[in-house]
Amino acid sequence: MGYRVAVVGATGNVGREMLNILAERQFPVDELAALASRRSLGTECSFGDKTVKTQDLDTFDFTGWDIALFAIGSDATKIYAPKAAKAGCVVIDNSSLYRYDPDIPLVVPEVNPEAVDRYAKKMIIANPNCSTAQMVVALKPLHDRAKIKRVVVSTYQSVSGTGKDAIDELWNQTKGMYVPGQEVPPSVYPKQIAFNVIPHIDVFMEDGSTKEEWKMVAETKKIVDPSIKVTATCVRVPVFVGHSEAINIEFEEFIDEDEVRDILREAPGILVVDKREAGGYVTPVECVGDYATFISRIRQDSTIENGINLWCVSDNLRKGAALNAVQIAETLGRRVLKKG
Ligand SMILES: NC(=O)c1ccc[n+]([C@@H]2O[C@H](COP(=O)([O-])OP(=O)(O)OC[C@H]3O[C@@H](n4cnc5c(N)ncnc54)[C@H](OP(=O)(O)O)[C@@H]3O)[C@@H](O)[C@H]2O)c1
Repeated sequence: MGYRVAVVGATGNVGREMLNILAERQFPVDELAALASRRSLGTECSFGDKTVKTQDLDTFDFTGWDIALFAIGSDATKIYAPKAAKAGCVVIDNSSLYRYDPDIPLVVPEVNPEAVDRYAKKMIIANPNCSTAQMVVALKPLHDRAKIKRVVVSTYQSVSGTGKDAIDELWNQTKGMYVPGQEVPPSVYPKQIAFNVIPHIDVFMEDGSTKEEWKMVAETKKIVDPSIKVTATCVRVPVFVGHSEAINIEFEEFIDEDEVRDILREAPGILVVDKREAGGYVTPVECVGDYATFISRIRQDSTIENGINLWCVSDNLRKGAALNAVQIAETLGRRVLKKG
């Protein structure tokens, strides 16, 4: 016997990936509901070799459904996730709404799978921000070995992290650059994204950082260890899919770059590609459609006592959202629900 699973936001970037990944990983689905807004009622979505028609989330009854994978943004989640949870369906949510609630587990299965066991208090499990998810997969095995004191991270985040309108904006602005009179002004982003980079993701906070940067700090502490200090600069770049991060890590004790490479080679969810030659590293276009978080450019940082630099790339729609959500569902199934 398997599960009755609802994918909420099935017409979106993350929702479509969740459908693909449920099918690819042969998650034990007995019945599947694809839900979106009334606007998309009847839209066809692929689920493996089948096609499912979307239903209206607003009138859907979650009673008798086991798991709902949500990817619809915080405002709509605030209305519908409590309804699903109240009906006894476990919500796995991609928005940032519940991530910082102490009664709601925030889970990356390679890092803190045991946190899933605390799902029952609110019947909701939160999925982290895309930039955090890939970073903590790399940090955790190193933290277990040499205790991380401080992380300095700069991100290079693709437009798919903003949603489908942002993908269109990059595409249309890029095309418009070549046709006089057809330039496309910024609409999703505050400045032109084509052939440009924007050092601003999510809203500004009082201290001058952005909410995206704050999320990386707060979520790393909640998932890995509250004692780790993190400072982040998050930048949007004209890449369709795949987030990249330059990460500088300061450890409590010395750890050699070769040992870091060996630890990461053995770590779950990671592939090390690290040849010190042209092309001997992974770039975002190469990680699209993959499950792994790729680590390259591992090297000692000799400007601090126990420092390591590395480059981390992953498909933000997969490990950063849909894959992690399905992995949480698998973990929940294995550890708690025990069907399938
Ligand atoms: N993209 C990423 O890398 C990433 C990573 C981590 C987390 N997330 C989070 O995942 C969520 C979805 O992101 P996305 O990139 O997939 O966005 P998206 O491509 O813009 O898709 C949004 C989805 O939400 C649905 N939706 C919006 N408002 C709704 C409402 N009131 N009722 C029902 N359905 C509604 C849309 O349905 P219609 O088509 O009917 O409008 C669509 O299916 C967001 O919370 C985002 O922050 C995204």
